[in-house]
Amino acid sequence: MFSLRAWIGTKPKGPKPGFVKVGSLDDFPDNSARVVVAFGRDIGVFHVGGTFQAIDNICPHSNRPIGTIDYDKDHVTCIWHGLRFALSSGICPEASHYRVVKYPVEVFENDVLVGPCLEDGPTDRGVD
Ligand code: FES
Repeated sequence: MFSLRAWIGTKPKGPKPGFVKVGSLDDFPDNSARVVVAFGRDIGVFHVGGTFQAIDNICPHSNRPIGTIDYDKDHVTCIWHGLRFALSSGICPEASHYRVVKYPVEVFENDVLVGPCLEDGPTDRGVD
């Protein structure tokens, strides 16, 4: 007899809808970061302390790339003027009106995938 519950339980689960592959786990060893392109945006993907985070790679201070050179488990520091952005929220702790959007990250099998941003855009794109 066919069991829908058993069939659903054995069906391989895939990544969430709308997520796009940005690399494999080999491309993102722990304590690494790199910029990828997805959804027509440059996105910084960070794998720090076993956790993946992704944020827009455009600094709202003056619309330049933030970069992935200087980061720790909580923040990335913009290469231009040193503003930091929290990887967990995208908010700049020194000037909270500056915020970059976050993207969800999922690991499925050996793939690293980024999902579409569901937030509003940055709060401030002006130049101080
Ligand atoms: S452009 Fe990022 S801190 Fe100024």
